[in-house]
Amino acid sequence: MQSNDVHTIETAPITGQKPGTSGLRKKVAVFSEPGYLETYAQAIFNAITPAGKTFVLGGDGRFFNSDAIATILRMAAANGVAKIIVGQNGILSTPAVSHLIRKRGADGGFILSASHNPGGPNGDFGLKYNTENGGPAPEATTNKIVACAEEISSYRITGDLPDALEVLSNIGTYALGDMEVEIVDPVVDYAALMEELFDFNAIRKMIDGGFTLRFDAMHAVTGPYATEILEHRLGAAPGSVVNAVPLEDFGGGHPDPNPVWAKELFDHMHGPDAPDFGAASDGDGDRNMIVGRGIYVAPSDSLAVLAANAHLAPGYARGIAGVARSMPTSAASDRVAEKLGIEAFQTPTGWKFFGNLLDAGRATLCGEESAGTGSDHVREKDGLWAVLLWLNILAVRDESVADILLDHWQTYGRDYYSRHDYEGLDTDAANAVMADLKTRLPTLPGQTAASLTVSAAEDFAYTDPIDGSVATGQGLILTYEGGARAMLRLSGTGTEGATLRVYLEQYAPPDGDLTRDTQEALSDVIAATTQVAKIEKMLGRAAPDVIS
Ligand code: G1P
Ligand code: ZN
Repeated sequence: MQSNDVHTIETAPITGQKPGTSGLRKKVAVFSEPGYLETYAQAIFNAITPAGKTFVLGGDGRFFNSDAIATILRMAAANGVAKIIVGQNGILSTPAVSHLIRKRGADGGFILSASHNPGGPNGDFGLKYNTENGGPAPEATTNKIVACAEEISSYRITGDLPDALEVLSNIGTYALGDMEVEIVDPVVDYAALMEELFDFNAIRKMIDGGFTLRFDAMHAVTGPYATEILEHRLGAAPGSVVNAVPLEDFGGGHPDPNPVWAKELFDHMHGPDAPDFGAASDGDGDRNMIVGRGIYVAPSDSLAVLAANAHLAPGYARGIAGVARSMPTSAASDRVAEKLGIEAFQTPTGWKFFGNLLDAGRATLCGEESAGTGSDHVREKDGLWAVLLWLNILAVRDESVADILLDHWQTYGRDYYSRHDYEGLDTDAANAVMADLKTRLPTLPGQTAASLTVSAAEDFAYTDPIDGSVATGQGLILTYEGGARAMLRLSGTGTEGATLRVYLEQYAPPDGDLTRDTQEALSDVIAATTQVAKIEKMLGRAAPDVIS
């Protein structure tokens, strides 16, 4: 690398350069328009005063990843950054970026990913900025970035970097003008962290003893991580990691680990050749799906089971300080916290809201219903971490996933849970449903719909217990008599139209019926909520597009 010539290029604010639930996500066609990425990246640089600082840079390998890495390197050099640590070939999973920032004491990091959204030339791309604690930029930083994007007039970039991609493939340290570029193996540090947290010997022994597993990397970033950890270090049979080669378009798939998009794995786990344990992760490696032989573990239940059993893994042997979950995640983990006598937190959707609780040592485990689970080992959710904690628990308890789940429900009761998504909605129509329901909230308590009576109705706002910052308008909550709850909010990660998410739960006590079909167990709260929110009337949709 060479290039010391800094160019200042004129630009102007671009409509829509405002991060959503998790960074800025747009269609590749939008992100790759000349000046688009540059303008947003400069807004970030303007917001964080980068001169003399060290950052981590990497992405999930989706289409446009390498081009974006080269652009950000050139802009970092032009903005006076002292050092950038980059994953080899531009690859780093989201949790691996978080870990590297923390391990190296870096000032922040740039993650190139649109998570589970499809990739390829017609797919999505994204850019997320993480701060020095390794976590997603909190609201205050994000607002600063938005303010800078709104008044931007130029960006700084060095001249061409013809050999950037070649250099990215070689581990080592290089100079780009005055900036140091260190290319690192994306897996090594992360794998070492996992070995510290979990009893690899116990898991290896279980696998040697005949325990079988399948991990579906969905042709996304966890392929190399899972192959190294599960097959090479823990001894799972070669081929246990499937769809292990990361592809720019994820093989045309939708790398979202849930029963709909990871159907191949889901069906395999319910078929005659099912191994003992199945799992999958998403585009950038922060989500997870856990499936036992013949049984799917809902993410909200997974968080609760992990919280109840975390002490069985060496990294959590001292116990956990508290459990945090996002508002639409079921109350299952609250019940575990209550029994353990530890704090339980309910935050808005998005991992950024867990950061302060983790930093302050108030929460050790965090989770979201959208297949995100993690702990204070990094400041992101972490797909493989959840898989390894499950394996550690299975190795110690020597029981099947199904037995562990049933035992959990018999102890705490079961929170039947499902999310119904109405996709591709007209944005105005979706906003109207939320606005209409919000106006009617005060009138709802006491009203009965489809056999359920509303006991409380709330527009969710959150006051961060650490810094006192307030986030309002974070979703609407309907609580019904008899242990049912429904939450409604609009997705903040889509790139087309609007998606209405309706989250539904119904509690059954330990001595209740614990093995019902989920949708059937939720039928009353589904009927009541669609009626109360006037979904069919206002959207013309008789049923959701995706049920998970
Ligand atoms: C979705 C999930 C949310 C998660 C986010 C980023 O956001 O629902 O839990 O934090 O992706 O992975 P949404 O599209 O609902 O705004
Ligand atoms: Zn993700």
